[in-house]
Amino acid sequence: MSQTEVTGQLDQTTGRLVLSNPQKYNALPQSAWLSIRPAMEKLVADGARVIIICGSDSHFCAGADISEFDTLRKNAATARVYEASNVEAFAAVRNCPVPTIAKLQGYCLGGGFGLAAACDLRVAEPNAKFAVPAAKLGLGYPVDAMADIVAAVGAQNAKRLLFTAARFSAEQMQEMGFVMDLVDAAALDDHVEALAASICQLAPLTHRATKASIGAMKSGDWEGAKLASDATFASQDYAEGRAAFREKRAAKFSGH
Ligand code: COA
Repeated sequence: MSQTEVTGQLDQTTGRLVLSNPQKYNALPQSAWLSIRPAMEKLVADGARVIIICGSDSHFCAGADISEFDTLRKNAATARVYEASNVEAFAAVRNCPVPTIAKLQGYCLGGGFGLAAACDLRVAEPNAKFAVPAAKLGLGYPVDAMADIVAAVGAQNAKRLLFTAARFSAEQMQEMGFVMDLVDAAALDDHVEALAASICQLAPLTHRATKASIGAMKSGDWEGAKLASDATFASQDYAEGRAAFREKRAAKFSGH
């Protein structure tokens, strides 16, 4: 049986984390969950200034691969081990030092919804379909992932998603604040690429400091946020930004 592959691709400074197993709407087996953190870290180490997370085809992700649940997630003890792998993946996305964008098409379900929730920005096409159907399967959802969902839609909407396990449209998810931009399918790629390019042009250390500060409101790592902000003031890019302003030209940021 084919397995979902997770691949990191870098195009200049735009990274992409691509989920690929079109036969199963890109459902993620444990091996795929485990490959997300190293792939994200490699993209950042190789110079990505933004990472787009997307499916390889016209769907994002139908969640965890349920066919493994009879073995790998069959009781509380195995579930704890299994969930360590997807919790690690959610954390790698949530704590990624560069901005992340979820490009949402087709199905965005369960663990796929969790991955999107861990991203900084979410862009969807109108036919994207959203659900967190844990209660249809009878399993509990990891608290770390739940925290991302609550942060994205608020506690009441998170409960609505989980209590009903219902399908929600991209328009409804935009009303809940989950989807930032709703874009025609034909324009989705260009829209996401333009968004990524606009982020890449700006000062990477400012983006890191922004993520550290906003992340600190959940993690409580205020000291880390202060250090990230301090790093901007010691950077070449801060000098370049001020020089560009004086000289009335576009700044060229190096990330140093
Ligand atoms: N895990 C494993 N396999 C999955 C899957 C998942 N999360 N989602 C889809 N698939 C597989 C189906 O088993 C099917 O495989 P098969 O062809 O070997 O039978 C194939 O993908 C196509 O799915 P199918 O259900 O036939 O297509 P559909 O268009 O009628 O419905 C979905 C698509 C996504 C709505 C439906 O497959 C579904 O509800 N999937 C489960 C979603 C879910 O509960 N995710 C949360 C997991 S925690």
